[in-house]
Amino acid sequence: MTDAEPRPSTVRERAFEILEHGRRRDLASRVLDWIMVIVILADVAVTLAQTQPEIQAAYGEDLQIFDRLCVLIFAIEYAARLWVAPEHLMLQKLSAWQARARFAGTPMMVIDALAFVPLILEILFPGVALIRLTRLVRFLKLARYSPALATIGRVIAAERRALLACVIILGGVMMAAAAAMHAVEGDVQPERLGDMSKAMWWSAAMLAKIGGGELTPVTAAGRMIAAITVMLGIFCFALPVAIIGRGFYEEIRRRDFVVTFALVAHVPLFSRLDAASISDLVGILRARTVPAGTVVIRKGEPGDAMYLIASGAVEVDAPTGKVRLEEGDFFGEMALLTRERRTATVTAIKSTDLLVLDCDDFHRFIDRNPDIGAHVRAVAQERTTGPVARVG
Ligand code: CMP
Repeated sequence: MTDAEPRPSTVRERAFEILEHGRRRDLASRVLDWIMVIVILADVAVTLAQTQPEIQAAYGEDLQIFDRLCVLIFAIEYAARLWVAPEHLMLQKLSAWQARARFAGTPMMVIDALAFVPLILEILFPGVALIRLTRLVRFLKLARYSPALATIGRVIAAERRALLACVIILGGVMMAAAAAMHAVEGDVQPERLGDMSKAMWWSAAMLAKIGGGELTPVTAAGRMIAAITVMLGIFCFALPVAIIGRGFYEEIRRRDFVVTFALVAHVPLFSRLDAASISDLVGILRARTVPAGTVVIRKGEPGDAMYLIASGAVEVDAPTGKVRLEEGDFFGEMALLTRERRTATVTAIKSTDLLVLDCDDFHRFIDRNPDIGAHVRAVAQERTTGPVARVG
């Protein structure tokens, strides 16, 4: 290996960023995501096309080759994800192979591994056309590219007790309606309500508002029961929708606010911290999104917090001139260090996501991490005395 070549760990770090980190503005990462989405959709489309006899007869072999090519791409992707696994912050304490083994057990990696099962089945049972349909499991790989899908998964997990209660209510209502109808009209319409299985089918159809088939109650009591069942159906289905809807909203809001691990780990100031300290910070940092033009700090006010720019930019109206600070930079540290008033006005120049570290937390944090404290002091010093400072 020549000097000009990057070290393997650097290549792996970069591969990790592209594959796993999903950096918001990383073009390579986004391009790769799109390529994988297109390959997955193409493979699913090919599988569906192969169920059409005329297409299968005309292009069967070509489609087969295309499918094998897709599997090759999935295999390369899977191997690459395993290779970069030791770069995950949470796994960095493990040896490389331990990290890979642990990572292989994560839900998305299990789904990725499942994508190969159809090929194995096709090799083991050649000629069984139905086995080809198992390839449709690859559709699940799209979950990786839909953060909202993961959010719904979390919401369902969080609301599982309430949702279970809904299922119990629905089951109870279904059985009660079926029993009532069976009792009232079982003799009148024995072919449709003569036993509980028929009556259950009727009540399920009524509750789901798919009409109850051609069955019209013939007795007054039957009509009452049918009307109540329809009403209860609306209630039973509206309830879980409302629960999931509210949970989804809460989750999205929390995600905006609970600062993520990856976000904090990528702030240059914290880049040397270990995973435990970053986890602590995730708990104490607040997120604040400000629109362009918002005055975040006003000169002369007392200092109550330090800010880190997660995305966007601000302008500092410093005595030495206007300074633009961008993603990864911090500001508002001087008043906290000197316990005096703010030295400059700071205004957002675009919509900016800020991580806010309150004054007390700031002092506790730099006490616990003296080298970060020294760096912040050095930057503050440079900003006061030196030329216009740019922070790293
Ligand atoms: P503080 O005085 O608490 O509030 C205003 C902030 O603007 C200040 O902390 C610094 O973080 C920042 N600031 C002041 N002067 C400069 C400068 N010359 N370059 C960059 N940032 C500055």
